[in-house]
Amino acid sequence: MKKRKILVTSALPYANGHIHLGHLVEYLQTDIWVRFQKLRGHDCRYFCADDTHGTAIMLRAQKEGKTEAEIIEAMQQSHIQDFAAMEVDFDHYGSTNSDENREICAEIWCAVRKSNIVEEHEVEQLYDTQANTFLADRFVRGTCPKCRAKDQYGDNCEKCGATYSPADLLDPVSSITGTTPIVKRSRHLFVNIEKEHEFLSEWTAQSGALQPEVSHYLAGQFLNEPLRLWDVSRPAPYFGFEIPDSPGNYWYVWFDAPIGYAASTLEWCKRTGENFESWWKNPNTEIHHFIGKDIAYFHTLFWPTMLKLSGYNLPSKVHVHGFLTVNGEKMSKRTGTFILAANYYKHLNPSYLRYYYASKLTGRNEDIDLNFDEFENKVNADLVGKVVNLASRTAKFVHSSGLSKIYPDDCGLFQKAAETGAEIATAYEQVDSAKAMRLIMECADRANKFIDDHAPWMLKKDMARQQELQDICTIGLNLFRQIVIYLAPVLPTLARQTEELFRCPLENWTDSEKPLTGIPVAEFTHMMTRVPRRGIEAMIEDSKETDAAVPEIAAEPWKDSAEPLEAEPLLAEKISIDHFTGVDLRVARIIEAKEVPEARKLLQLTLSFGGGQRRNVFAGIKSAYKPEEIVGRLVVCVANLAPRQMKFGLSEGMIVAAGPGGSDIFLMSPDEGAKPGMRLH
Ligand code: 2FM
Ligand code: ZN
Repeated sequence: MKKRKILVTSALPYANGHIHLGHLVEYLQTDIWVRFQKLRGHDCRYFCADDTHGTAIMLRAQKEGKTEAEIIEAMQQSHIQDFAAMEVDFDHYGSTNSDENREICAEIWCAVRKSNIVEEHEVEQLYDTQANTFLADRFVRGTCPKCRAKDQYGDNCEKCGATYSPADLLDPVSSITGTTPIVKRSRHLFVNIEKEHEFLSEWTAQSGALQPEVSHYLAGQFLNEPLRLWDVSRPAPYFGFEIPDSPGNYWYVWFDAPIGYAASTLEWCKRTGENFESWWKNPNTEIHHFIGKDIAYFHTLFWPTMLKLSGYNLPSKVHVHGFLTVNGEKMSKRTGTFILAANYYKHLNPSYLRYYYASKLTGRNEDIDLNFDEFENKVNADLVGKVVNLASRTAKFVHSSGLSKIYPDDCGLFQKAAETGAEIATAYEQVDSAKAMRLIMECADRANKFIDDHAPWMLKKDMARQQELQDICTIGLNLFRQIVIYLAPVLPTLARQTEELFRCPLENWTDSEKPLTGIPVAEFTHMMTRVPRRGIEAMIEDSKETDAAVPEIAAEPWKDSAEPLEAEPLLAEKISIDHFTGVDLRVARIIEAKEVPEARKLLQLTLSFGGGQRRNVFAGIKSAYKPEEIVGRLVVCVANLAPRQMKFGLSEGMIVAAGPGGSDIFLMSPDEGAKPGMRLH
């Protein structure tokens, strides 16, 4: 396969806010795509930076009595921490307020000027004389000049839909100081992109760089009439770069922000000795931008114009995604669905969200919904129930023997999944991770069926069938590893855990084509727990309070496999000793166990208490135990619980188990020497 040179970017987050779950749709989507390309062996690099300039940061600095530099530095650190926690792995994370960005802005500006496409015009804007600043449209409120509705923004009326110039707004009030602004004139610089209309019509429709829905949107909304002048300067005071040939004027934030993609690359080149031109001015390099649909026109009209005029590569692809809703609604601070990344990873494992988003994103620009019931079910069923379960049901049986020397006959399962690998790769390439996840789960279903059919836990008991046991587990574990390779772009932590299990690196997609044989298997340690419902609830609760404050993160406790994260709080309410001694806890032996086919969670157990005393108990442990695994085992039973009539029969007691549920249920057993019928003290 030809090694491709691929430069990838995500939109630069503004330095005036923290990363939230809406942002993460894009960063996770991009990170997954980049990790996939790297796993395929391509020279793929991922760049991003903080978008630092503009009025918002300037006003915030004034309000907080700090310098802009202090504000953007702190926010950059916070963003870097959030990305690292969510396993978004940039090759470089820069800032638009860098020397490199200033340098490239000047270069591109010079080229744009030379193309005779820059014009100067006088503009009337509202000016806050107290804050000493021009007011962007969203910083002014007033009465609509058309319908007289009160409290409308500076550029459009939400009531009647009219658009107007802020200077026409009646009774304008500055949202910054509450004072009445004056109308002030200043000269602005404009790029007349109409001069590039033909190029843009052609590029947006024919180059293959855009999704069809995006080409249609541009054709219908912008390119069907002359393109409007683009205002690229702001007069002082403005936090940004002063335009070298226009003192007192600054590049508008949207001029220097996309240049930040190249500036971040340049910072990285300086750090690593790479050649900048080979990335940005090389027809053999692909450039892929991942963005949200709200900023598509900046990236598909202005940005390609700037690139073309200055001899930079045009984007090979602009991948546009939709917005995020949470539980079907717009994210809201009131309902606790405006969730900051830091609040998410304080409570929940990043792998859950990475997988969930991957399973929803199709490469089209439709909105996606984060529904917490679906999130919980999908992660539990797919990752815990299907993927990790494959290893947890087999690895322990071959810890001492290792994998079989020769890969056994698996009825073509490994080969079939290896062939599916090509389809999965195509889906990833097309940013259709939802399809990739579906295909991978089909492989997992086939593998689980194989394990169910060959029940290694039964073979374990039969000394004459130990070779068969090793073979079945060798197959199960290889199918597991193959699936983990396919999932590695989405679940880097699971990939690392799997490397440790086999002490064998997992670095290339082609590692999925050949099974491992004759190597030791490390002791199996738990890889992923079920989604803790209480984690979701606590996260929502915290989001109601936090507004924009960042929660304090003590640690990343899910990484600590020694102690569970989601420990249930000890109950405050106490019972008397009499209450306790009133509970008749007895040792019992499970002498029979069978599935209750029509019940999702129940096994039917026959317990023996010695002396011929037996009880029938329905226990909710089906998701964690196979009937054949527990026959013969001693357990603890609440023997004097009032019998309960259930749909399937009478339950005459309850056995004692710990854990949150699902595959994490652990039966309590007495120490050796205990006999059925013994009472617990
Ligand atoms: O919309 C935003 O959040 C912008 N900060 C994105 C900038 S993307 C790029 F052009 F820099
Ligand atoms: Zn109006």
